[in-house]
Formats: sequence, C-alpha cells, structure tokens
Amino acid sequence: MNKSADFDDTASKITEEKAKQRIAELTDTLNYHNYRYYMLEDPVISDFEFDKLMRELSDLERKYPQFVRQDSPSKRVGGAVSEKFSQVKHNVPMLSLDNAYSREEVLEFDAKVKRFLGYAAEENIDYECELKFDGLAVELVYKNRVFVQGSTRGDGITGEDVTANLRTINTIPLMLLKDINYIEVRGEVLMDKKSFKSLNEERLKEGLSLFANPRNAASGSIRQLDPDITKRRNLIMFAYGVGDYFIKDESDFNTQFEMMNFLKNAGININKKIKLVKGISEAVNFFDDIAEIRESLPFEIDGIVIKVNDIKLQKKLGEISKSPRWAVAYKFSAKQESSDIIDIEVSVGRTGILTPVAILKPVNIGGVVVKRATLHNQDEIDKKNINIGDKVLVERSGDVIPEVVKVISKGRHGGAFKLPAFCPCCGSSVVIDGAAHRCMNELACPCQIKGAIVHFASKRAMDIEGLGEKIVDKLVEKGLIKNVADIYYLKRGDLSGLEGFGEKSEENLFNSVEKSKNISYDRFVYALGIRHVGEHIADLLVRYFGDIEGIKKADIEELSSKYGIGEEIGRSIYNFFRLDSNIKVIKRLFDAGVSPYKAEVQSRNENGAVYGKSFIFTGTLKDFTRGEAENIIKAAGGIIEKTIKKKLDYVVVGSDPGSKYDKAVKLNLKIINEDDFKKIIDKIDK
Ligand code: IVH
Repeated sequence: MNKSADFDDTASKITEEKAKQRIAELTDTLNYHNYRYYMLEDPVISDFEFDKLMRELSDLERKYPQFVRQDSPSKRVGGAVSEKFSQVKHNVPMLSLDNAYSREEVLEFDAKVKRFLGYAAEENIDYECELKFDGLAVELVYKNRVFVQGSTRGDGITGEDVTANLRTINTIPLMLLKDINYIEVRGEVLMDKKSFKSLNEERLKEGLSLFANPRNAASGSIRQLDPDITKRRNLIMFAYGVGDYFIKDESDFNTQFEMMNFLKNAGININKKIKLVKGISEAVNFFDDIAEIRESLPFEIDGIVIKVNDIKLQKKLGEISKSPRWAVAYKFSAKQESSDIIDIEVSVGRTGILTPVAILKPVNIGGVVVKRATLHNQDEIDKKNINIGDKVLVERSGDVIPEVVKVISKGRHGGAFKLPAFCPCCGSSVVIDGAAHRCMNELACPCQIKGAIVHFASKRAMDIEGLGEKIVDKLVEKGLIKNVADIYYLKRGDLSGLEGFGEKSEENLFNSVEKSKNISYDRFVYALGIRHVGEHIADLLVRYFGDIEGIKKADIEELSSKYGIGEEIGRSIYNFFRLDSNIKVIKRLFDAGVSPYKAEVQSRNENGAVYGKSFIFTGTLKDFTRGEAENIIKAAGGIIEKTIKKKLDYVVVGSDPGSKYDKAVKLNLKIINEDDFKKIIDKIDK
C-alpha cells in the first residue's frame, strides 16, 4: 500500500494527472483497509493513519471532483435527505421460505425433495445449512464491480430504492474485489443486540418511542429518509444468495456452498457459520448446535435455513407459491407459548410515555417463566385487537422484553383495550404524540419527576453539582422534593439524615443551588426539559421570543414557523406551557430567586447581514477559533447549525473541512470561504 507523504497538504500544487493517480491509489488503499477492518476484522493500520489518508483523499476530491471514483469511501457519507423512496422492480422475484417448526416437519421437507427428484428414500441429499438472520431482506446490484443500487425486498416483486442508506453500511462493499460484470446480491440487514440496546437507551432519554426488537430497528433505520441516521445505527449485512448475474470469465459456481465462497472472495460479507451436510439428520444436528449458541451470538437469528446444495437440483425443484421447493427455514419454536391476559397495566416512563403491559398467567417460554409482556402502544393494541381476558400468543426472543404476538381467542371483554385519557401516575390529561400516549405533566408527575430533576440539575442545564441520580432518588423517595422548584426550598438540616450525606456535602449542595439561580436564559429553558427542546432549540427560543413570557404567548403556528423549530417541536412547546402545573413550577422557581439572564446581543439590527440567518462551519479558520466565529454570529442574532439542512443560509468552509462540505455541495447550498465570511461580518450593524 502506497502511503507516500509527499502528497500531504499539497492538493493545490500537483498536476491533474498526478491527482487522478493519487485519488485512485487512495481509493484502493482505503477500500482495502475498510475491508480488513469490517469484513476480516483484522486491521493493519491505526484509525489515526486511516483518518489521515481519508483526509488526503477528501482534499483531493474536493479540488478534482472530476476524478472522484464511484467506489470512493467518501461516498459512504449520508447525502441528501429524500422526500420518499422510489420503487425498484426486482429482475428475479425475491422469494420467501416455507417454515418448519419441528424435526418431523423438516423430515417431511426432505422426503418431498427426494420424491420430486425421484431419489430413493434412503439416499442422502447434500444440503447447505445457514443461519436464518432476523432482519430485513435487501438486494444489492453491482455493475462492473461497482455498487449501483440497493433495494428492500418489498412484496418480493417491487421494493424501495434505499441505495443511499445501504451505502452507509460498512459491511456492504462499494466495489467488488472480483471482476464481475453484473450481479444482484441478496442478503439480510441486521442490527446487533448491543447497538439495539444502546439505541433504545438513547431513545428513552430523548423521549422517543422504543423499537420493539432489533429487526424493527434495522428496518426502521433502512426505511427512513436521512442516510446520516442510517450511518449512526451500526447496521451489518450478511449475504445469502444471488438474483440475476453475468460473469464473463470462468469463475462461476455450481453449488450453494460454492456460491457463498464466490461471494466471500468478491468481498461480500457472509457469515462464518455455514455447514455442508450429507442428509437431513446432519442438518438437524446443525440446528441443535446453533440452538445451543443462539443466545451468545451478537445478533438475532430465528432458526436455520436448509438449502439443497446443488444448483442444478435447485433449478429442477423450482418453486411453489412464492417459496422455493429446495429450501426450508427450520425455526426455533420454543420461544412462543400461549397464555391468558389477566390484566393490562399502564406504566408511565421517565419521559411520560404510557406503556401498556399485559399481565399474564405465568407461562414457561424456552426455560424462562414469563408473567408480563409488552403491548407497546395503542396502535399495536388496536392492530392486534387485544384486551383483558384474551388468550394470546407470547414471544420471548433474546434479551428483548416478551411481547404479545397475536390473539388466539377473544375473551369476554371483546374489542381492544383503550389507554386511559388521564395519567395513571398523576391524573393529568394524556396527549397523543405520534404513536405514543404521553403525560405532559413533565415537571410534577411523580413517574417523571426523578428524570426531570436529574436533567434540570445536570451540568449543561442548571449545573447543580452534587445533585446526581442517587441523591435525587433519595430526595424524591423521602418526599423532600416533588418537582424541580422544590430544590430551591430545601432547608439546611433537611439532608442531614440522608445516607452518605455529611455536613460538607450539604454545604456544597446549597452553594451550588444558590449559584445556579444566576444562569443564562437558554440554559434555563433547556433545563425545563420540554420535550424535543435540546440546547440548540432552547437557544433559538430565547433568540426568537426573548423570555418565558414571550415563549408562553406564542401559538403553535408562530412557534412552528420559526427557522429550525418546525411543527412537532412547536406543538410540544405549546402544550408544555398550556399545563397549569408547569406554569406553577416555573413561577415558584422565579419566586425562589432563579433569575436567568440574557446573553448580550451586540446587534439586534433586524435588517443586518446576519440577523436571523443560519450558518454552519466546517474545517479550520485561520483568524478565528470555531467558538469565536460562532459567537460573532450568535451575538448579531444569527443562528448556528450543527448539521447540514436544506434551508441553511451559509456554509463557511475553512481548511480540512469534513463531510458537511460534501453534503452542502450536493444540496447546492451557499458555500463561502473565510474571506467571504469576513466581508459578511463587516456588514453587521451596517
Ligand atoms: S434464502 C429463495 N437464506 O428469510 C430463498 N433467507 O422467509 C430466499 N433470511 O426474505 C431466502 N436468513 O429475508 C435465505 N440464510 C438465509 C436467510 C434468509 C434470513 C430471510 C430472508 C427472506 C426470509 C424468507
């Protein structure tokens, strides 16, 4: 691998020919290292070295866009957000599999294969066994080695074009290692268990609805419109077959096993757990072995797939009603059992979402006694028509909370259970927020209060040192604080009885509570924990509306019409200020002496060059630090964005810019350099 240093920082000096050559070299080098890192899991250079090469390539590509190769690793960045997906017709239909749930059913499959092929019952068929991945089926099209289109399975005939999203998945090569003219690779996109868990934890913190399982999370991540989000979701892809293909040279395949090796050698990711077996009983053994290690796998599987190995025989067997006769999914079955719903409890999470939980007649599912199962939300209950008294099918898979799959027979209540209109925790009215039912009493609902107080006191909000999760738990449990305002009404001595709380720590806490009264207005607004109002939106709200009174007065339309806010956030802010209990808490905060101050705004000249205009910075400026440049804009009433959006006014580009630059180019945004930026700020106040 050529890593010559003489090209570093010399993008402007080299000749076109050399640039083209170096771009090609870097593209190959970086693709090779990506392959080693993601596919072989055996990197041979450090992340630092990789980033350095990547920067060199980005610099050159910016200068010489005409030489950017289609398989450039820089193309893994998100790209534009689309309005909707276009449709893709599959050349060869994407079939589904027949299921078998027992040894008997698998033996029956084997018997049918033999009957159809005219084999004697005692003869052994060669099968190839694979894991059955529990994710989302996709098709990847490669033309002259290059990944050109990716789509979902859809109904098997027509899927959706999700090329931009699939490009962000590191286990999908952008260029094949073999000279293949045309191939449609089929496989499954998955989210591993660890990423699924942390994604849901993150969503819980942000007050978003949770994904029911890794399959839904993978599917949601692929079927959404911003590739940047897909990129952050850590998805993986395993290939298991091909559709149409055309390969000029001799390197073809005659069996399923050879096909998998062929794909592997072409740089396509396949899972290692593949087994060639002689006869169906060896396939059943493979199933038993996989069942043993299932829980220890990093991703979810729901069984194995047994495929006739010989492709000529596969062709002979053909298909029947959308499933091939040559393959069967042997699925784990012990994970579903039937039970009765004794009751439905509604719990209120830290972010106010009401979650219905079915209380079940205890049932043993795969060795674990299950007494509760999630019903997710009202939509799911309605879709499955679930109520108390129904006999239902319950599923437990991996680490995921058991869920009710479907109703087996309806009980005496009939119909579908309805979530209460009032919060079961505090009695205030419940608002429907997308798929979620939510209690809006964010500042005083006992079920939400601990989370609200910890957020209020956190470093980036009111910064009350010493008021972490453990102390808050104790204070709330002892009834010493019921909402965030109570923090300011604690008296000396209140804390003395608390475990682990000495005089010194009490003194420290009172000092930091006192200090927090004098805080900037945007941090105060952020501290209130209004749904969807992070630091950036809090800052915008203060800029647009001045103070709490101003924000409170604005109606949904006014809020939503402001740049950077939008309808969902606007509605959430509006609802927050319509609730008496929230208003009372804010009043008590002010009464206790909390008096947020507004940052000095040098110029509110609404006709100025910067007021109300949005800016984003990428790369290093010569004469300003990033903080200085941003402060100049903010002080003049401008808005600083952190991610590229369609409506941005200016993209300020310094040296070594990141992927924001590429996205800005794609979206045709106004890109300016440091000199242009200086000209703009010279006009402030003029
Ligand atoms: S082969 C013609 N192999 O299962 C055969 N499918 O119910 C088509 N799946 O839509 C599929 N792992 O999404 C095959 N190793 C595997 C698989 C697999 C998971 C999924 C695939 C397909 C569904 C069929």
